[in-house]
Amino acid sequence: MSHTIAIYNFKGGVGKTSTTLNLALSWSRSFKVLMIDCDPQANLTLAVSDQSRHPSNLFTISKKLLHDGQPDIQPIQISYYLHLIPGDYQMAGLESNSQFISFGQVIFYKLLTAIKNHYDFIILDCPTHFGVTVKSFLANVDSIFIPAIPDSFSIHGFRKLLQHISQVEKEIPLNILGIYFNLFRKKTLHHQQVKRQAEKELGKLILNQCVRESIRVSEAHDSNQSIYNFLENSAVASDFMKLSEEVIERLNSMSLDRIIDEHGIEDEKYSDGQPMLN
Ligand SMILES: Nc1ncnc2c1ncn2[C@@H]1O[C@H](COP(=O)(O)OP(=O)(O)OP(=O)(O)O)[C@@H](O)[C@H]1O
Ligand SMILES: [Mg+2]
Repeated sequence: MSHTIAIYNFKGGVGKTSTTLNLALSWSRSFKVLMIDCDPQANLTLAVSDQSRHPSNLFTISKKLLHDGQPDIQPIQISYYLHLIPGDYQMAGLESNSQFISFGQVIFYKLLTAIKNHYDFIILDCPTHFGVTVKSFLANVDSIFIPAIPDSFSIHGFRKLLQHISQVEKEIPLNILGIYFNLFRKKTLHHQQVKRQAEKELGKLILNQCVRESIRVSEAHDSNQSIYNFLENSAVASDFMKLSEEVIERLNSMSLDRIIDEHGIEDEKYSDGQPMLN
């Protein structure tokens, strides 16, 4: 079953693009993965491909869908199991396009529906700006995953962020997969305190795994490589790998919850906290 995840935070520089890339690389070892670069800055596209403009990108696909309702989607193959729909700076123009303002949600619904069955995971690198493009994407994904940095304003910021995201109009409630701390220094008392406080206030929304701050991430970025290709055995590559495993565990337990809900399995059927499915 395919799962679509938007990587989003309204704060810039928290690692949305790095998270998209590293989750995608990690999962593409075993699953078929598509990344969609939704940010007009197109940093993700630049990080994995050498051409800055591709004839078929998110803008050209959206424009075609808007004009004739037909998708024409030809993702770039980054590796056998990893594909990309590139970003384009012209995506910024859609924010003021009146047709797109009215039909953005439908356009992205059509886009994701057309490709969903070809992939196990579709990961969207969202821009910081909370405009019509982001809202249209958030309304159509299965879940939202939030990278955050452990700064003084984190808790207040999370509440504001969750309120913000809840403005997206959607028929079924938005599913926040979780929040994780990037650029984390585990020996810094302040970072430990922020994580503890976040866990206290937001409970299971906070993932266990953090990703440490490491110059290797920027070095890999600057040399247009993933952290796995650049330095596979580094501690930060291992953090991203463990993060990708924790996210998969969450997704698995979410789908188990759904199976349980759908089949109306009652609490008495649980033994030692383990669901007993017949
Ligand atoms: N764990 C990390 N350790 C060190 N540097 C990091 C780490 N994660 C990300 N960075 C660096 O921080 C910068 C911002 O990261 P990134 O571009 O992923 O954030 P973003 O949220 O996508 O930013 P934007 O809001 O501009 O889209 C980049 O230079 C990246 O290489
Ligand atoms: Mg980015």
